[in-house]
Amino acid sequence: MLRAISSVTRNGYKHVVKPVLFTRHPDDVHRDMIKMARFVGNVPGVRSLPNLWGYESPKYLEQTMAGLVFRNPVGLSAGFDKGIETARIMRAVGFGFMTGGSVTWGQYSGNQGGWFYRLPKSQSIVVNAGLPSEGTKTVAGRAAAYPASLFRDFPLFVSVAKTNSKRCASIAAGIQDYARSLAMFDVELNVGALELNISCPNAFGGEDFTTPGRLEQLLRVVDALALTKPVFIKMPISVPPKQFLALTDTAGAHNITGLTIGNLRKDRENVELKDELPDSVAGNLSGAPNRDISTKLIRETYQRHPGRFVLIGVGGVFTAEHAYEKIRAGANLIGMVTGVIFEGPQVVGEINHGLVALLRRDGLACISDAVGLDAGV
Ligand SMILES: Cc1cc2nc3c(=O)[nH]c(=O)nc-3n(C[C@H](O)[C@H](O)[C@H](O)COP(=O)(O)O)c2cc1C
Repeated sequence: MLRAISSVTRNGYKHVVKPVLFTRHPDDVHRDMIKMARFVGNVPGVRSLPNLWGYESPKYLEQTMAGLVFRNPVGLSAGFDKGIETARIMRAVGFGFMTGGSVTWGQYSGNQGGWFYRLPKSQSIVVNAGLPSEGTKTVAGRAAAYPASLFRDFPLFVSVAKTNSKRCASIAAGIQDYARSLAMFDVELNVGALELNISCPNAFGGEDFTTPGRLEQLLRVVDALALTKPVFIKMPISVPPKQFLALTDTAGAHNITGLTIGNLRKDRENVELKDELPDSVAGNLSGAPNRDISTKLIRETYQRHPGRFVLIGVGGVFTAEHAYEKIRAGANLIGMVTGVIFEGPQVVGEINHGLVALLRRDGLACISDAVGLDAGV
């Protein structure tokens, strides 16, 4: 029965909803989606309806890591819900965790002009939001207002970035800016984990913390904060491979629980796109063009540091096969944004259902048995 509902939703999304949504500017669609999810999330009864798309199979899908229970491995990655406004709906849709943000200490209205540009044939979105944020105090207050029970087996990660302003362009000021947000979210009981976004490609002053030396400076201060929540780092995927691995070494020497691999793709000139992308459209790529590169980086990280990090595999996940490939490369968890936008909200349940079928096919008892199987470690 639930499979039939999922199939009807898939067809309805593909043939009716998406064609209508895709005639509108993606910034407007995104704003309206957040508004609608917030509204629906506040209406008891109605907010349970998306449960119809979910898929539960605790025996195969549930994992406990870093003191957090994940009812399934598929999470919403950072960027869709910057203000943590949709947590009730994201849980109901069937995600196993969500990452709110990126949030910055200072408020910022984001870049002028369009933030998002669709590349439908390439299954990608060009993102040029520039770290808009309502500021840490407001977003932390919103996270605090949810009932604690919502996050019992659906951990809330908060992605923290440095405020996109001239004031934070120096290394020292940038580090202080991160530290303030981390300290405030760390004491918020509903927050399960913190994610350091060191790799936002659109920030004032560039990607300050994606060299090992500067990451070292940031992580010394993070260590000194003695945070109680597990800390993850959102990794860049467009730095040279040696630099990427050096960053993982730096992270490994500090109090870092996990790595999220990874962020948007910056080297868009190296990507063969199926759509036209005018030079006048600024920004970096999500979705399918990131799939193979993120999987490769997950595999190399797992090979270099087996068991050291909880790895979250992000980039171009649209199907259970894509998710499974990342898990077998070494990811413990999966994150996605673009796949939900292109495929519809039922895709989360479909991926979880498909993952169980793939585990059964391979004679595996649970997700953790599949982690790293293709890494050759
Ligand atoms: C609309 C949009 C906004 C994003 N904003 C953020 C952000 O604020 N912080 C962040 O760390 N990543 C952000 N990302 C990157 C995603 O979290 C993810 O790393 C990337 O899109 C690759 O995953 P995907 O292919 O499933 O979209 C954003 C992505 C999209 C599509």
